[in-house]
Amino acid sequence: MFKHLTVVFLVFVGFNKVNSNETLRSITASFLKVLEECRHELNIGDNVLADMYYFWKLDRTLMHRDTGCAIVCMSKKLNLLDTSGKLHHGNAEEFALRHGAANDMAKELVTTVHECEQKHEMEEDQCLRALEIAKCFRGAMHEINWAPKVDVVITEILTEV
Ligand SMILES: *[C@@H]1O[C@H](CO)[C@@H](O)[C@H](O)[C@H]1NC(C)=O
Repeated sequence: MFKHLTVVFLVFVGFNKVNSNETLRSITASFLKVLEECRHELNIGDNVLADMYYFWKLDRTLMHRDTGCAIVCMSKKLNLLDTSGKLHHGNAEEFALRHGAANDMAKELVTTVHECEQKHEMEEDQCLRALEIAKCFRGAMHEINWAPKVDVVITEILTEV
């Protein structure tokens, strides 16, 4: 009986895990698609591109202010921000659902970004704030094993050229 439950539990967790990192891979891909536009608009250098390509690598410090500006630009293009520059919860939830998230996951993603926003609301500079929020979000996703693998993300970039 217990053995049986354990198997069901493991299958469920395993399935859930794959789903979640696939959703974040797909969300990352959508961000990278608009990155090209933002790159031209903001006249962004290669260091920012590398920051975005290797975004999910935890030991990458993400220090360039320009990377934060790019994140703001991409979020705007994807309609994820409200007029005050904060996450638009309704749009963000829909965005997550469109990328294959289950309801619970979509809510969890929005909550996580919201908490990260609150943690860094003292930062006045919009670009630096976005950078801190992004790092906070990345850390949280790694903690619950939802982060996509960097090599999977990179392979996708390389094969889409
Ligand atoms: C998601 O996780 C599974 C299991 O660890 C792995 O096989 C798969 O490559 C991951 N997918 C992505 C997009 O990271």
